[in-house]
Amino acid sequence: MQIVKTVADFKTLRAEWDRQRLTISLVPTMGALHAGHLSLLGPARKADRLVVSIFVNPAQFGPQEDLQRYPRPLERDLSLLEAQGVDTVFLPSATEIYPEGYRTFVTVEGMSSELCGASRPGHFRGVATVVLKLIHIVRPHWAVFGQKDAQQTIILRRMVRDLNLDVDLLVQPIVREVDGLALSSRNQYLSGEERKAATILFRSLELARQAWLRGERESAVLLRGVRELIDSESLARLDYAAIVSVEDLRPLAEVSADALLALAVFVGSTRLIDNVFLPQPLPRAGSESGSPCHEE
Ligand code: PAJ
Repeated sequence: MQIVKTVADFKTLRAEWDRQRLTISLVPTMGALHAGHLSLLGPARKADRLVVSIFVNPAQFGPQEDLQRYPRPLERDLSLLEAQGVDTVFLPSATEIYPEGYRTFVTVEGMSSELCGASRPGHFRGVATVVLKLIHIVRPHWAVFGQKDAQQTIILRRMVRDLNLDVDLLVQPIVREVDGLALSSRNQYLSGEERKAATILFRSLELARQAWLRGERESAVLLRGVRELIDSESLARLDYAAIVSVEDLRPLAEVSADALLALAVFVGSTRLIDNVFLPQPLPRAGSESGSPCHEE
């Protein structure tokens, strides 16, 4: 496995791959890898070369957020990736991506200030900017993302269409712990009590999904159930719960088209997110986002 730390070195390598007419996949991450990240490697393997980037992107963290304390277990991450047969890790420094004098940012308008964007101003501007840069540097045929960050994938799809990028985005289902908690690098901030309370996200999504299966189509009713359940957990505080179109994040009063129920909840001081499709898309062989599965 080769580790490339500079844009110049990556471009040299990429030119060589061009000469050999190889196909490339990119899995962008911020490290602190878990089974959710590793699940993205599956579809990425269809390329001749599999690149994983590890970059804790300062541009997507707000001034009050956890940039400094974000976990960075680099040695562990690299051995996990090596064991998974990853070809190349792109591991740039912050100044490599944002050198002195850096001024250019990308904003996907009308989608970046809602939901997670409301409590994390500038977050999606930082995400879109770094992903666009990674796509330009790595020039992958496929880039793989997780459904866990639903708003991120919807925004990135829009950016790829709007900017005519020559890359296919692949989105993988959410990997969960046995009790339903979506795997996240931030779960390690939770105390024992908070970890138990954190199942409230999955339980409230499940409650709404069951009501939907029984025929309830009114978003206000479904969301009221979610709010009440989250309010019943003393360690949890709802940031938002919304039912939106998977196309453009438009709020839906009725669950008629392909709808997404997304939520963010503070458990103690840790902000966790989760989501579920209403209706569920047909499960693909070997993966089902609704059902919990074990961390490896
Ligand atoms: P990060 O939080 O490290 O996540 C990297 C990728 O792993 C994202 O596509 C995310 O959706 C996916 N992922 C995380 N937890 C998952 C889970 N439980 N199941 C399935 N996929 C999961 O998302 C980012 O980094 C950054 O915003 C990034 C895209 C790298 C840009 O900086």
